[in-house]
Amino acid sequence: MSVEQPTLPGGKGAKASCDSRPRLTAERRNTHQRTMPMDAVLQILERREPAPHQLIEVLLDIQDECGHIPQAAMILVAEHLKLPLIEVFRVASFYKAFALTPRGRHIITVCVGTACHVRGSPRMLDEVLGFLGLEPGQTTEDGLFTVECVNCLGCCALGPVIVLDGEYHDHMTPAKLRKLIQSVREAEKEVLTHAEAGVRC
Ligand code: FES
Repeated sequence: MSVEQPTLPGGKGAKASCDSRPRLTAERRNTHQRTMPMDAVLQILERREPAPHQLIEVLLDIQDECGHIPQAAMILVAEHLKLPLIEVFRVASFYKAFALTPRGRHIITVCVGTACHVRGSPRMLDEVLGFLGLEPGQTTEDGLFTVECVNCLGCCALGPVIVLDGEYHDHMTPAKLRKLIQSVREAEKEVLTHAEAGVRC
């Protein structure tokens, strides 16, 4: 089956929506970070009945496996489920559960809802974006961090709240957030060092 790469809205360079929600666990995200072999998509499709009503389930599987829905995967899904490609894209781009662009290994979600806003979340957001050199929804060049914002995380009394890889951090300050990011970077460096040492052995 040939796979072309059409340019769809939301493709390369597109920014994620500002109200995306944290979705993958850190473990899943670290295992399947930025690319997904298309044979993995084919395996997902083989497990599903080739019928249009399977669309959401298939997209959820791909999202879970890859962390986003690649354009080439949408083409395979459209062919397998006998749907127009535009319909697959419409669904994938409509639901916040799906991301159309690769996301970082670590997702930082800053709540910018009213309760967190009055407790200083704008400063928090500025801090994290400035520190990492990003705009909301973007991913650092090293693929480590994606910063998103959300309108409420459901724990307003604990604001300002951020979520890092699915873990909630309450009463955050810019200094605490910087420290958190540094600790993730250091942990990543350590993993890399161990991996390199393992290769040398
Ligand atoms: S407004 Fe931030 S948790 Fe509700």
